[in-house]
Amino acid sequence: MSRKPMMAGNWKMQKTHHEALAFVEALPAQTRQEDSVDMVICAPFTALTSLQHAFKGSRLQLGAQNMYFEEAGAYTGEIAPGMLLAAGCSHVIIGHSERREYFQENDVIVNRKVALALKSGLNPILCCGESLSEREAGGFEAKILSQVELGLQGVQMIPSYTERVVIAYEPIWAIGTGKTCDEIEANRILGLIRDHLARLYSQDVANKIRLLYGGSVKPSTIEAQIQMPHIDGALVGGASLEPGSYADLVRLTQQFGL
Ligand code: 13P
Repeated sequence: MSRKPMMAGNWKMQKTHHEALAFVEALPAQTRQEDSVDMVICAPFTALTSLQHAFKGSRLQLGAQNMYFEEAGAYTGEIAPGMLLAAGCSHVIIGHSERREYFQENDVIVNRKVALALKSGLNPILCCGESLSEREAGGFEAKILSQVELGLQGVQMIPSYTERVVIAYEPIWAIGTGKTCDEIEANRILGLIRDHLARLYSQDVANKIRLLYGGSVKPSTIEAQIQMPHIDGALVGGASLEPGSYADLVRLTQQFGL
């Protein structure tokens, strides 16, 4: 069974389109052409079309960080999946903990977004993860599995979807704190998620879906993380902003992840 590793950068609310272009120009040519790792940069909406052009001729893939759950209409300020596709996106992050915390996204909203992303042809990166207080209280694994289950509710996992659905486990206490969840524990949680996918769908489906870890991933942590059996890649915030650091993450994933 082989799952292609993924190195997804989440730039969050950082980089103008000028800065985004400077990032691509500074990436080593070798990184731009790396084909053994799925490289996805999830940029702010305003940088997408610039990156769409800058990524031409490279293997870099483009992602958004959010989308709305309707195809069009009177929803001031929102972005539809068709707009993201036209701007060159193949991926979209859905249900990031920052969206859940600051923008009141719940599992119902997340589920509608996942379903519409898949129907529209975008590959969703569905995020889940517990807060520090939830971890300390115990029983947090049930919350993570419920986020996955509710996020995917009603999704018929047809064969083509198993390669398109990506799930990212991002413990909230590890995001932006420098406190990486150790790889054994991250692998344990992703293993629980995979077991749950096997219960929801089948073992075959569970074996094919890629599971990422996110939370203070850096070039110095990725080597150990990517060697764990259930960690198929990473969703990286801070360390994806700098071209040298992102290139290192891709190189180390290629070197140790296959
Ligand atoms: P950091 O890598 O900066 O901790 O962010 C993780 C994250 O939230 C990616 O989506």
